Amino acid sequence: MNPTLEVIENRHSVRVYDPQPLTQAERDTILHAAFRAPTASAMQLYSILEVDDQALKDRVAETCHQPFIAKAPYLLIFLADFQRWMDVYIYSGVEEHSHELNIPFRTPQAGELMLACSDALVAAQNAVIAAESLGIGSCYVGDILEQYEVHQQIFSLPRYVLPVTLLTFGRPASPQTQRKPSPRLDRRYIVHRNQYKRIAPDEVDLMFQLFTGESDSSWQRKTAAENLAQENYLQKYNTEYMVEMNRSVNEMLKNWS
Ligand SMILES: Cc1cc2nc3c(=O)[nH]c(=O)nc-3n(C[C@H](O)[C@H](O)[C@H](O)COP(=O)(O)O)c2cc1C
Repeated sequence: MNPTLEVIENRHSVRVYDPQPLTQAERDTILHAAFRAPTASAMQLYSILEVDDQALKDRVAETCHQPFIAKAPYLLIFLADFQRWMDVYIYSGVEEHSHELNIPFRTPQAGELMLACSDALVAAQNAVIAAESLGIGSCYVGDILEQYEVHQQIFSLPRYVLPVTLLTFGRPASPQTQRKPSPRLDRRYIVHRNQYKRIAPDEVDLMFQLFTGESDSSWQRKTAAENLAQENYLQKYNTEYMVEMNRSVNEMLKNWS
């Protein structure tokens, strides 16, 4: 396995960090790797917010209800951003130019939002892999999608800037060498050939058997559920935080459009 594939193979989410801060050179390397990610129309429809103010870190740990965030030595929030281009269009007379050409001047819509979210996530994953290659662990925090109004206010986000993901970084507190990579669904359920194939009812048991055969630690039973699908529904899907995330993202969409 070449060194790039080894980094990808051995990476896992790290949530407990050595408090030692990242060096400026390490931060620069991580950010540079993010910038080198592919980007739609080469427009970089994202921004990256470095959060190093401890009061803000504490606040985000609360809004995302995950205390480890406050203790992470380095935090980056990846933002879908069409504001920069809208501002540049307005400052550069694009609206007037469009009227002269008799074409409508339009504001960003769902397509631009999807591309901006894609750009932000592609850049984030480059940052994760670059950090990993430096021995710096990381963890995504999807809960940054919750509490949009609070995040908008505490980070001064304008209309066309939305939080997409948060990444925590830091050197792992304990040696990571013995850790087994976390399990994944068997490839047959993920990779389709030419046509999408829906999962059939009689494939579900095998899918979970193959999954749990890889690990006994993931998706441990915490409820009286009869099977892993029921457990997943109760523990991961039908939760208070997902209700809040859906509310918050609906607000983001209303604001954007
Ligand atoms: C979009 C996204 C959101 C995530 N949100 C969280 C989160 O809020 N909190 C957390 O501890 N881990 C979060 N994770 C990390 C996943 O739990 C983790 O990637 C998954 O369990 C697989 O483990 P691994 O990264 O060690 O392979 C998130 C990962 C992704 C890609």
